[in-house]
Amino acid sequence: MKERDFLDIDEFCVDEEHRRKGVATAMMEFIKDFAKENGFHRIELNMWEFNQGALAFYEAAGFETFRRYMEMFL
Ligand SMILES: CC(C)(COP(=O)(O)OP(=O)(O)OC[C@H]1O[C@@H](n2cnc3c(N)ncnc32)[C@H](O)[C@@H]1OP(=O)(O)O)[C@@H](O)C(=O)NCCC(=O)NCCS
Repeated sequence: MKERDFLDIDEFCVDEEHRRKGVATAMMEFIKDFAKENGFHRIELNMWEFNQGALAFYEAAGFETFRRYMEMFL
């Protein structure tokens, strides 16, 4: 591992009654501005594979997958 500087998003949620109104997009713009102002040039987060709505949002916001967690049930 090499030393890396990044801002990690741990929890990210919009109230169910207020989705698809651009709230998460505005939150992400706030986070991006906060990261830049504090010298971070990379944002990281992880999500569950079944959460296709979240994946669609993150991809629409400009995130790309760079690593996968894999498992096998025995
Ligand atoms: C994922 C989440 C944060 C998105 O919040 P939101 O405020 O509804 O997102 P926005 O309105 O800013 O959506 C922007 C764009 O992202 C995409 N998008 C957002 N939610 C989507 C969904 N459920 N399905 C498909 N595309 C979606 C669309 O392209 C959307 O633009 P459009 O509405 O003009 O089509 C919200 O659905 C949520 O809180 N989910 C439950 C918690 C969760 O899963 N959090 C992430 C855990 S890792």
